[in-house]
Amino acid sequence: MCGIVGYIGDGNAEKIVIEGLKKLEYRGYDSSGIAMNFGGKLAVEKRKGRITNLEEVLEKSDYPFENCHLAIGHTRWATHGAPSDINAHPHFSMDHRIAIVHNGIVENYLDIKEKLIKEHGIKFVSETDSEVIAQLLSVYYEGSLEDAMFRAVSEMRGAYSICAIAADEPDKIVATRKDAPLLAGIGNGCNFLASDIPALLKHSREFYLIENGEVVVLDKNDIKIYNAEHKSVVRDVFHVSWDAASAEKDGYDHFMIKEIHEQPKGLTETLMRRLGDDNSIKLDGINLTKEDIDGFNKVYIVACGTAYHAGLIGKYAIEKFAKIPVEVDVASEFRYRDPFVDDKTLFIAISQSGETLDTLAALREAKKKGARIMSIVNVVGSSVARESDDVFYTWAGPEIAVASTKAYTTQLMCMYLVALYMGKVKGAIEDAYYNRLIEELKEIPSKLRKLLGTEPQIQDLAKTLYKTEHVFFIGRGTDSAVGLEGSLKLKEISYINSFAIAAGELKHGTIALIEKDTIVVALSTQDDLFEKMLSNIQEVKARGAFVIGVAKEGNTAIEQQSSRTIYIPKCMDEVAPILAVVPLQILAYYIAKERGCDIDKPKNLAKAVTVE
Ligand code: F6R
Repeated sequence: MCGIVGYIGDGNAEKIVIEGLKKLEYRGYDSSGIAMNFGGKLAVEKRKGRITNLEEVLEKSDYPFENCHLAIGHTRWATHGAPSDINAHPHFSMDHRIAIVHNGIVENYLDIKEKLIKEHGIKFVSETDSEVIAQLLSVYYEGSLEDAMFRAVSEMRGAYSICAIAADEPDKIVATRKDAPLLAGIGNGCNFLASDIPALLKHSREFYLIENGEVVVLDKNDIKIYNAEHKSVVRDVFHVSWDAASAEKDGYDHFMIKEIHEQPKGLTETLMRRLGDDNSIKLDGINLTKEDIDGFNKVYIVACGTAYHAGLIGKYAIEKFAKIPVEVDVASEFRYRDPFVDDKTLFIAISQSGETLDTLAALREAKKKGARIMSIVNVVGSSVARESDDVFYTWAGPEIAVASTKAYTTQLMCMYLVALYMGKVKGAIEDAYYNRLIEELKEIPSKLRKLLGTEPQIQDLAKTLYKTEHVFFIGRGTDSAVGLEGSLKLKEISYINSFAIAAGELKHGTIALIEKDTIVVALSTQDDLFEKMLSNIQEVKARGAFVIGVAKEGNTAIEQQSSRTIYIPKCMDEVAPILAVVPLQILAYYIAKERGCDIDKPKNLAKAVTVE
């Protein structure tokens, strides 16, 4: 949700910042901009639309960019004020002596704005909340940008990461954060700031993770971090092992399809790092004893979007393998309904980015009530990870496409591992069943590779379906949760109106919408429920639906009921969701491609949602 990049050094600041912004476009892409300091004079260029629009403007500009060694840039996901040149960041103070970029929301911006207008005669030009930051900084500026920053943020409520530059301090960038990501990259004779690691991978693998309330001051040779008490702090260097290629498309047309293909690798990493030769599970450094597990009377799994869908499968796994009751909730609802959480609750937050504000806020709520907090997170060192008692990482690698794919399947793998671990330690699962499940999980990556071989067939199917405007997903048991994820994938990247429902629930109302040629994806991967699904398929077929059946190889009875069939490799019902979702991801991808959609950057969305 908005991307920030800053650079100071002897290189071409404009070029480095624009390159970095392009790597962060998944965080927001409705406008972008850059501010530079040309020997005591600030220049800002910003444009509505994609970064290429900004580049066109910069190409025609007269500024001597080669002489500019300090810049801050921004790619925006609009909250306050529509996408426009004026509302794009960076924002200037009225005297054009301060420029800022901001990710997040200043919740009390109207009060601050009113005060600035009344007491200081400030004239605002944009509709954004962010502009108040530039104006406040200039009101408080007395020759030290970091001092002004400390004063300004003490008046602000909300979530933010901010980078600022001052005309009078041409060798300095100052930044701060609260509940929005910010890291400083360590270079050689240069230094960087960014919202996220991919922006800087080309230049650095060494970072300082900036904590809430800290102010960081960069010059080209040094990075100084100050805590909220203005005291200098020493931070350990955070080393990233990804290479720059992991954040590139690598010959694929889109990150999404590349990431779909990376799933076998991500799943292998996620599983094999934790598995001993005797099939025992090591939950990394997490110390979850039998006493701890016996002490939990409830598990809450809380997340948003795709991660929430992974939580639904998590509920199924924990209840079945560990025999502990589980509630699953969307984070934005959990916070506001006074849930029954206490020191006997295990709270599991699931988040790819680890920065989703709703999830973070729910986690804090549960922490306040005494729950033990475990998180399943992809981005190492992210806020959710840092604020949890225990972190279990999905080793999916960087996920760049806005639509989540490999993060979801690795989240499922983590949920199975956590559930099996708890079941085993608690003595709630029989050894033979446990071992069979582990063996099944080990086979998932190779089965998934085989399943990816059906891509051309699914691509063909997409060619016959792409003009449709409504799709239904039905399924029973875990298939109904997989249907929710398939439906979300389709709607978010192809803009087709899709709806997922438990197959047995259809007849209680929704079946009224089924008519001739309505497309129904019928997930039928659960052997136990297969016959019941065939009956549900009959019900929609009788109303003229075009049914795409998804079943396990060998369950050929599906072919008589379906207009088209997609098979997944044979596996135990329990682990089928990891496989069943993949054809739905591929189908959504190719339908969106046929419709000419901007697959990696769907409209109105952003990768990390750091606003409520
Ligand atoms: C959909 C998608 C979103 C995210 C949701 C939570 O493809 O990616 O629904 O799953 O915004 O994000 P994280 O997992 O980063 O907390």
